[in-house]
Amino acid sequence: MQSRRVGDPFDDLTIHRVVFEDADAVEPAAGAPVPAWTEDDVLRVEHVAKRFGEVAALRDVSLRLGRNEALGLLGDNGSGKSTLIKLLSGFHRPDAGVITVPGSPPALESVEGARALGIECVYQDLALVDPMPVWQNVFLRRELVRRPLPLLARRRMRARARSVLAGLGVQLASVDVPVGRLSGGERQAVALARCVISEAGILLLDEPTAALGVKQRVLILDVIARLRERSEVSIMLVGHNHAEVLAFCDRVNVLEDGRIALAKPVSEVRLDELVQPRRASAALERQPHAEPDRHPAGHALHAA
Ligand SMILES: Nc1ncnc2c1ncn2[C@@H]1O[C@H](COP(=O)(O)OP(=O)(O)O)[C@@H](O)[C@H]1O
Ligand SMILES: [Mg+2]
Repeated sequence: MQSRRVGDPFDDLTIHRVVFEDADAVEPAAGAPVPAWTEDDVLRVEHVAKRFGEVAALRDVSLRLGRNEALGLLGDNGSGKSTLIKLLSGFHRPDAGVITVPGSPPALESVEGARALGIECVYQDLALVDPMPVWQNVFLRRELVRRPLPLLARRRMRARARSVLAGLGVQLASVDVPVGRLSGGERQAVALARCVISEAGILLLDEPTAALGVKQRVLILDVIARLRERSEVSIMLVGHNHAEVLAFCDRVNVLEDGRIALAKPVSEVRLDELVQPRRASAALERQPHAEPDRHPAGHALHAA
């Protein structure tokens, strides 16, 4: 499996390259496309496959994420979106494929390894600890220590959690409230505040608004937009709501049958392609002169 090409911009960088190969798990690539890499890539995924027993969650996935870019990832339930996010965050290991991140080792073999490379994830099944207060969740596994005594710098963490949440436009009565008592939107905001603390360069967000009502969805999208403004960050946003993804992202990829069936800038996407990407592209090939309708991506969110 060869991921580097002559003249590849990644050649100039210190490469962290993870190669996973498990011959039994690999299916023939079946022509699944590999995107054209660019100098701006912060993450490359090439021919990645993952099975769970009989279920081929991902058959052959290749994609790229650019610097400062927001990439939307769409696909039906069970199409492997969460699995892909969990591979990229080091939670699962692929059976096959290459994941490349410019940077230094350690290997992408664990969540800690991915974090060390600046990859931070908000999982669909939120990894918050309900009985713990907000501030402690914000700093989970990243606690500040007051030296030389190994005591937690509680006051500093409380203050920092408060200011990060305020900076994201989130008003909580207190950061001492157990997370279990917060609303869905507030919980999601706490998970996002963790990303701010981490100063990660790559954020993987798995359906951050899925369980939320309309008002809270707008709040969380606003939080994500602020995250984007505050720092140089690349975002992969898994969505269930097409309008939301089109409104927020620069490019969109659609997973279908364990492969990327569509990869386009949002400005070039038509709605029918998102629903049935393969059928839409086959139809287009039969009618090469068909003029596609443009989807008014920018207005869809606030109309919802
Ligand atoms: N830990 C797991 N064990 C077994 N099967 C899994 C596991 N995680 C996901 N799957 C299966 O892999 C497929 C893709 O799941 P998932 O990545 O969660 O899809 P999506 O997030 O797109 O809805 C589904 O068929 C799901 O049941
Ligand atoms: Mg999912």
